Amino acid sequence: MKRAILAGGIASVMGLGILFLGCPPKKATLGEDVAKAVYVPPGQYDEFYAFVSGGFDGQLLVYGLPSGRLLKVIPVFSQYARNGYGYSEETKAFLMTSHGFIPWGDLHHPELSQTDGVPDGRWVFANENNVPRVARIDLRRFETAEIIEIPNSGGNHSSPFITQNTEYVVAGTRFSVPIDVTTGELKDVSISSYAENFKGTITFIKVNNDPNYRGEDKMSIAFQLLVPGFDYDLAHCGKGPSHGWCFFTSYNTEQAYTLLEANASQNDKDFILAVNWKKAEECVAQGKAKEYPATYYHNYYDEKKHMAISSVKKSVKVLTPQDCPGVAYYLPTPKSPHGVDVDPSGEYIVGGGKLSADLPIHSFSKMMKAIENKEFEREIFGIPVLKFEAVNHCLVPKACLGPLHTEFDDKGYAYTSCFVSSEVIKTDLKECKVVDRITVYYNIGHLMIPGGDSRKPWGKYLLAMNKITKDRYLPVGPELHQSAQLIDISGEKMRMLLDFPTLGEPHYANGIHADVVKDKVIGYYDLRENEHPYSIKSEAEARVERRGNVVHVYMSSIRSHFTPDNIEGIRVGDTVYFHVTNLDQEFDIPHGFAMMGAENANILIMPGETRTLKWVPKKPGVYPFYCTDFCSPLHQEMQGYVRVSPANANVSLKWGTGKSL
Ligand code: CUA
Repeated sequence: MKRAILAGGIASVMGLGILFLGCPPKKATLGEDVAKAVYVPPGQYDEFYAFVSGGFDGQLLVYGLPSGRLLKVIPVFSQYARNGYGYSEETKAFLMTSHGFIPWGDLHHPELSQTDGVPDGRWVFANENNVPRVARIDLRRFETAEIIEIPNSGGNHSSPFITQNTEYVVAGTRFSVPIDVTTGELKDVSISSYAENFKGTITFIKVNNDPNYRGEDKMSIAFQLLVPGFDYDLAHCGKGPSHGWCFFTSYNTEQAYTLLEANASQNDKDFILAVNWKKAEECVAQGKAKEYPATYYHNYYDEKKHMAISSVKKSVKVLTPQDCPGVAYYLPTPKSPHGVDVDPSGEYIVGGGKLSADLPIHSFSKMMKAIENKEFEREIFGIPVLKFEAVNHCLVPKACLGPLHTEFDDKGYAYTSCFVSSEVIKTDLKECKVVDRITVYYNIGHLMIPGGDSRKPWGKYLLAMNKITKDRYLPVGPELHQSAQLIDISGEKMRMLLDFPTLGEPHYANGIHADVVKDKVIGYYDLRENEHPYSIKSEAEARVERRGNVVHVYMSSIRSHFTPDNIEGIRVGDTVYFHVTNLDQEFDIPHGFAMMGAENANILIMPGETRTLKWVPKKPGVYPFYCTDFCSPLHQEMQGYVRVSPANANVSLKWGTGKSL
């Protein structure tokens, strides 16, 4: 612990220690060792990508490890003014839902795609907790490629966890809701009828893994499993021997609907729900699921057209446990568990019993035996409750206070975040013994080891995502960013390496070795393949077309001018669409486009891409526009004018670059 505090960068403590103890200079090298461990020299790459959730800012953050450098913000569920995501005409469709256009979302859990239980670097999935949705981010582009809405759900929290070969993405509801199966809408009932009317759902999203399928509409809802009206918190699917099963923590088995902090903390044990998805597939194939009406959006990117497209789905298959015996079992687990994490061998299922000091570890092989021997204590809604003793491998005694989430290294150890006692503990899974602990600053939520929820963790670093930041950085007023800490887990003892602030509120992260991803990432789009309906391939095609009160500007950008850069003949009452195609064909040469008075963000146009900004001028005048991204020494010259005349004016439509109109 002392070592951890020293290494944590409290230099004054270290200095005093040296002063009072009269230590030889050797002691001072401690900081140097730590600095070396996270130092990535200028021009060199980090060893790992870390995908960290932005929480209430709705975005996905990409950090490099071990440096902690922020590499990219990928907008997913929230509008992002930096590049026009959710503002440009091409990306608005991503944010369409059955509730209308939703400009903000709460992104909680990034999950990398896997093949044979190992992160494969194709995609990252991410959930939206508020308006239930799941997104897929393409790691060739590091951009959102697809978003599907989840019907019959309220608070899509135990999501988006994947099966061993990304066959499915699972999404469990946090809040149970009164589902009207005849309309697919929420019922108008008394809240106090919770026990009678409210149900949860576990959604199985099928993923098209065919490498020859080029479309980005890769996700579809295969079926939903109806489950009792509890809260479903987190999930992980089995691997190796437990492949074919997914596990979900549930709390509020008390079915409280008010003052949950007291009323949902009554039971000593809540449950981990084990779902046999291969069994569910069988039952669905046998026609045992019912087709219910449901309205939900499926939005995906057409890469050729550089445009997101929405479609509306109208029904969903729902399977009830009573109609499919053997599809699900409850594993009693103390107490209001948060995380449920399956170790790399696929045998141990660790629950994060956040109100318990003992860390519960269940055994998959014991669970299978208990099912075979029908060691049930009761049944809820057609789901047998297995006896605790029959499934539990051990309770790690006095592990820590507030265990939340566990990840694993490649040497048989589990690392668990402990919110209340602000520490990470290292546990020998087989021996059920805590072998090391390290203090974190402060109140850690989730933690992440690259590959730490897969069959092959890279057991070198652990990222602690802490909820409380105060006094770690220079004061910046009452609102602080959250804070992450990097811990070296390569040795017997954990070692604190680095603090760095994070954007939004990271809830969860996934990491992957850079070698799996970096060589597949593209640098620009091939202009010849751009099939955007308003794209142009050369300046010669640039033009302005009026269709009634709608004006389409087919514009190009190239270092360092727009074509056209002078436009006259726009009238008050017109709606003007600037379709800007970036003709440059070189990595890292985007252009921006901003129009004075546009009630919008700017747009950032990648090389070979087309983006559209909508502008409704309100008053006559001459309005400047310009490139917002410093693209060349003549960036500041990259500008133009649009003349707007009164609604009844007869100024003819003219445009050009390099000539007087
Ligand atoms: Cu183009 Cu600045």
